[in-house]
Amino acid sequence: MKDVRYGSEIDKMPNVAFRLMTLVFRIRNFFKPMSRSIDKFGIKKGSVVIDYGCGPGMYIKRASELVGDEGLVYAVDIHELAIKSVKKLLAKYKLCNVKTVQTDGNKVEISDNTADLIFALDMFHMVKDYRSFLLELNRIGKRDCTLILEDGHQSRIKSKEKVDKSGCWEIEKEYKKYLICKPNFF
Ligand SMILES: C[S@@+](CC[C@H](N)C(=O)[O-])C[C@H]1O[C@@H](n2cnc3c(N)ncnc32)[C@H](O)[C@@H]1O
Repeated sequence: MKDVRYGSEIDKMPNVAFRLMTLVFRIRNFFKPMSRSIDKFGIKKGSVVIDYGCGPGMYIKRASELVGDEGLVYAVDIHELAIKSVKKLLAKYKLCNVKTVQTDGNKVEISDNTADLIFALDMFHMVKDYRSFLLELNRIGKRDCTLILEDGHQSRIKSKEKVDKSGCWEIEKEYKKYLICKPNFF
């Protein structure tokens, strides 16, 4: 299924693939809970955090706890089933500090300079127009925003090449599975 939006060609998962992925994540989570893996990102109480490409929302409850009542979490995804799934979690756990936002291609309705921290886990490899994607993340991040960009199903070399070519983020540190980036300003 292909959508042409915001000057780029975006692949959106077919619904059946999204549902299958959700099932796999739930089974994995049952044996090996993943949510606390975001604890190492240094999310501060009262901060504004964006889970970009949140999928079914495996990290949303934990992110909500970490930012606390004074903070805010944006759960962002291109897929309507992801938004639906996160909305269910918000109702189930009565999470009041989380907003869901469905993107239009790589365009997202979040104001400039909003986020203290953005994490994009297991999704960078899916983004075709990585330049407009990284530019949009730069726009919604604050000047000292931290971007945590997981390689997902692509090599580290590929991830770094994309970040470098975008020109709008600087790689600050590298970990085994993800890059820590800081914004470049023009
Ligand atoms: C493999 S899932 C990972 C979900 C979650 N980040 C996790 O690690 O559990 C990838 C998610 O990224 C979303 N996605 C892919 N391209 C996107 C884009 N350009 N903008 C927003 N979300 C996107 C997909 O719809 C899917 O829900």
